[in-house]
Amino acid sequence: MNQNHWQNKRIVITGGTSGLGQALAHQLDQAGAQVVIVARNEQNLAKTTQGTNIHALRGDVANKHDIYRISGETAGILGGIDYLFNNASYLGQSPLRLLLDTDCEDIEQVLQTNLVGLFRLTKAFLPSMLLQNSGTVINISSDAAVSPYPEWGGYSISKAAVDHLTRIWHEELNEQGIRFLALDPGDMHTPMHLAAIPDATPSELHAPSDVARDLLSFLSQTASTTNAQVRYGRSEWATTGITA
Ligand SMILES: NC(=O)c1ccc[n+]([C@@H]2O[C@H](COP(=O)([O-])OP(=O)(O)OC[C@H]3O[C@@H](n4cnc5c(N)ncnc54)[C@H](OP(=O)(O)O)[C@@H]3O)[C@@H](O)[C@H]2O)c1
Repeated sequence: MNQNHWQNKRIVITGGTSGLGQALAHQLDQAGAQVVIVARNEQNLAKTTQGTNIHALRGDVANKHDIYRISGETAGILGGIDYLFNNASYLGQSPLRLLLDTDCEDIEQVLQTNLVGLFRLTKAFLPSMLLQNSGTVINISSDAAVSPYPEWGGYSISKAAVDHLTRIWHEELNEQGIRFLALDPGDMHTPMHLAAIPDATPSELHAPSDVARDLLSFLSQTASTTNAQVRYGRSEWATTGITA
């Protein structure tokens, strides 16, 4: 990772208390960035920030009443923002189920978290990025956005929608210096993966810390481009490290 790139960068990570989000937060903190993480569970926020310079914000991205508080408190802490990682996500009811067996309220909750919440939060942070004519929004996607895996219905449609949202944001704002990416991290050994596929073999999954390292490396290497990039599978963006 290019450590210098991240020095003093102002960064918000949703879902920063577990899995990929936590690994990103810790690596960015180590690299000298100013990091704010957002999640709902206070204990996990405290554990993640202990012994670091990371700022914790309790908030639910699916709750519209939390959005302006999150962006307002972030402005108070960071002043502005350079990177927004829209990483928090809801898988839907576990065990996963066919669409026919899925509660409408559950689809609603998936879309509120993964799509509408992400849209609201992005919208709340964009004015600050537009004022400085720069900023990067990374939407964490999934191969489920393109593969119609049975039983992954709500989650899959939310990620497909986020990918297209990313392309449209790009068309509308890239000339004003805002960069939008949707990146699929690949299968990782995290609580979300465990909820989806409890009998997966951990050694066959990527460690979130490895994915975070490669993701930050990719972002710093491509920092000067404003092309929209929706990339599936780590082979499409990871430039170092892990195979599989
Ligand atoms: N794991 C995989 O194999 C895999 C594969 C492809 C894509 N992805 C994507 O990668 C991203 C990270 O996944 P992960 O596996 O690292 O997840 P994870 O370990 O389950 O962590 C999820 C994080 O999101 C937070 N969160 C969930 N709902 C939230 C809400 N409504 N508001 C605020 N925070 C919320 C959780 O904290 P609280 O519960 O305390 O809020 C937690 O910090 C997700 O976008 C996921 O879709 C994962």
